[in-house]
Amino acid sequence: MIDQATIARILDSAEIVDVVSDFVNLKRRGVNYLGLCPFHNEKTPSFTVSPSKGIFKCFGCGKGGNAVNFIMEHENLTYPEALKWLAKKYNIEVIEKEETEEEKQLKDERESMMIVTSFAGKYFTRYLWEKEEGKAVGLSYFRERGLRDDVIKKFELGYCPDGKTVFADNAQKEGYKMEFLEKTGLVIRRDDWVRDRFAGRVMFPIHNLAGRVIAFGGRILKDDPRAAKYVNSPESEIYHKSQVLYGIFQAKREITQADKCYLVEGYTDVLALHQAGVKNVAASSGTALTSEQIRLIKRFSANITIIYDGDEAGIKASLRGIDLVLEEGMNVKVLLLPEGEDPDSFSRSKSASGLADYLKNNETDFIRFKTNLLLKETENDPVGRARLITDIIRSVAVIPDNITRSVYLKECSRLLKVEEEVLYAEVRKFKRKRRDDLRKAGLREQTRAKTKQPEIIEREQEVVSIEESELLRFLIKYFNIPLFEKQDEEDRVREVTAGEFIISEAEEDELIPEGSILLKILQELKEKIGEEGFEPIKYCIHHPDERISRLASGLLSEKYVESKRWHKAGYYAEREEEILDILIPKIVNEFKIRKVREMINELNIQIDTSSKSGDYEKIFEYQSTIMKLKKVEKELSDKLGNRTFI
Ligand code: CTP
Ligand code: MN
Repeated sequence: MIDQATIARILDSAEIVDVVSDFVNLKRRGVNYLGLCPFHNEKTPSFTVSPSKGIFKCFGCGKGGNAVNFIMEHENLTYPEALKWLAKKYNIEVIEKEETEEEKQLKDERESMMIVTSFAGKYFTRYLWEKEEGKAVGLSYFRERGLRDDVIKKFELGYCPDGKTVFADNAQKEGYKMEFLEKTGLVIRRDDWVRDRFAGRVMFPIHNLAGRVIAFGGRILKDDPRAAKYVNSPESEIYHKSQVLYGIFQAKREITQADKCYLVEGYTDVLALHQAGVKNVAASSGTALTSEQIRLIKRFSANITIIYDGDEAGIKASLRGIDLVLEEGMNVKVLLLPEGEDPDSFSRSKSASGLADYLKNNETDFIRFKTNLLLKETENDPVGRARLITDIIRSVAVIPDNITRSVYLKECSRLLKVEEEVLYAEVRKFKRKRRDDLRKAGLREQTRAKTKQPEIIEREQEVVSIEESELLRFLIKYFNIPLFEKQDEEDRVREVTAGEFIISEAEEDELIPEGSILLKILQELKEKIGEEGFEPIKYCIHHPDERISRLASGLLSEKYVESKRWHKAGYYAEREEEILDILIPKIVNEFKIRKVREMINELNIQIDTSSKSGDYEKIFEYQSTIMKLKKVEKELSDKLGNRTFI
C-alpha cells in the first residue's frame, strides 16, 4: 500500500514530458511533443505528448495514458510498481511493505495536521475581520499597505492575536489537540513553557495546489531590528518548503491562460501584482529556487519570467539557480525593476496598463541577460572572460532542446566574440563530463535495483461502450461550460452547466449499475458542481484511481474521432464546442437508450435461466419490467427523432 499523500506527491512530480523523455526522443510541435512510438514499430512519428493535459497518445497503435500508465506499459509494471518507479526517479520516499498500524497512524496524523491548519486559517481570518484587535491592528495594516479587501479575502489573509497563548487556548477549547498544534508549528512548546508562534502577526496562509492550507508566513507589524520580519511554519509532514510556491494555487488558472508564470520573491509582491491585474504570479518566499518548485510551474506553463528588484548583487547570487530552470527545459526570462523598487512598490506606482506594458516590454532572455551582465565586468580581464565563457556555456549546455541550444550558441558567439565552433566544443566537453557523472551515479542505482525482478501482470482495461465514453468525454471536457438557462421555483434564472445537466440526466431512472466506474465518476464529479476553480480534466487524468485516470486520458486524447462523427450526423459545425446545446442532450439520450437496451438484454438472459428452473413468477416479473423499459426506450428514441448517429 502506498498512502494517498505519497501517491499525490508522485503524480504531482511526474511531469509527462520529463517521464517520456527518458525513453523517447521528443520534439516540440506547437503545444505538444512528437516522437517515435516506443510501443510499436514506426518510421514516421505518431506518438504525441501533451504537457498541458499530462498525457501521451499514439495515433498509430492507440496506446495512451498519463505518466504512470506510460511507465506501466513501457516497463511492464503494475500500477503500484510504476508509482514506486516514479517515486525513485523523483526521490520520493515510499514505504514498500503493507500498511502497518504505524503507517496508518502517520496518514491519520497528516490528516489531523491538515485539519488543525485549516482551523487555524479560518480562525486567523475571522480574527482579522471580526475582532476589535484584528480589525484595528491587522486589517488596518493591510489596508494601509494599499491592499484591497477583495485581495485580502482571496488570499485568506489573517491575524493571529497578540498574547502568549490566545490562539493555543482557543484551539484547545475547540477540541484541537496540543500534539498537532505543536507538530504543525502553530504552537511552540518547551519543557516549561508554551506560546503561539505567530502571536501579534499578520498571517499569510500557504496553500497546496489543491487549495488546502498547509503552512503560514506571519509578518511582524512594527519595525523591530531584534525580531524576525517574517516567521514561517517549520518543515513538517504536510509542509515541505522546497516543494511549495506561495500563490500558485490562486494563480494556476492564469498561468495556463497566459502561458507564463511570473516569479517574485515575497508574499507582498504576489499580492500587489495580483491586485494590479497580473495574476499569473507566484513567489519562492525568499529562498533559492528548487527543481520541485520549477516542476510545479511546468505543469501549467513552460515559460517563467523572474522579476528582480534592481539590485545586482542579489541577481548574481541567484544566477546559478536559474540553470535549474533551463535544465527543466523551460524558457526563462528576466525582468529588472528600476533601482530601489520591488514588485510591490513598483506595481503601486503604476497604473494597471502601465504595469502590463512595462512587464511586456522589459523582459529579456536569460542567457542574453547573463552574458551582458557578466560581460560588462570582464572587459579588460582575460582570465575573467574565460571564466565567463565557461559559466555561460554551462547554462546553455543544460538546455535539453537541440534547436534552442544552437540558437543560443549563435547569439553567444556574437556577444562574446568567440567562434561558434569553439563554443560547441565547450558544450560537448561539458556534456560529456556530466554524462560520466550521471553514469557513475546510475550504476550504483542499478546494481541495487537488479536484485528485485518485477512481475508481469496483465492489466485490466475498463470496457465502456461508445455511448458511455461519449457521455464521459463531454462530461469531463465541458464540465464547467454553461449549457442553458433554467428558471427555478421562484422564477429566478440561473445557468445550468454541461456537467450539472449530464449528471442529473444520467442519474435519472437508476440506469447506472452500482459499483461501476461510471457511477463512481458521476458521484465524485457531482460534488464538484459549482466549485470555484475546479479543473475536471486535470482532476480525472490525475485521479488516484488508476481506472479513472486511464479512462480519462484515453477519452480526452482521441481528438480525431470527434469531428468525423458529427459530419456524418449532418452537423457541419467546425468544432463540437459550437453546438454543445444540440449535441449534449442527444448524447445523453443515446446513452440512456443504450443503458435501457442493456437492461432489457440482461433481463432476457434472466428469463432464460428462470425458464429452465420453471420459475414462472420471476419470468412474469421480468417480462413486465421489460415492457416498461421498452416504453422508455420508445420515448427516448422518439425524442431523438429516430436518428442515431453512431
Ligand atoms: N522572508 C522570510 N523571513 C524573513 C525575511 C523574508 O521568510 N525574515 C521571505 C518572505 O517570504 C518574504 C520574502 O522572503 O516575503 C522576501 O523578503 P522581503 O523582500 O524582505 O519581504 P517582502 O515580501 O518585501 O515583505 P514586506 O514588503 O512586508 O517588507
Ligand atoms: Mn516589500
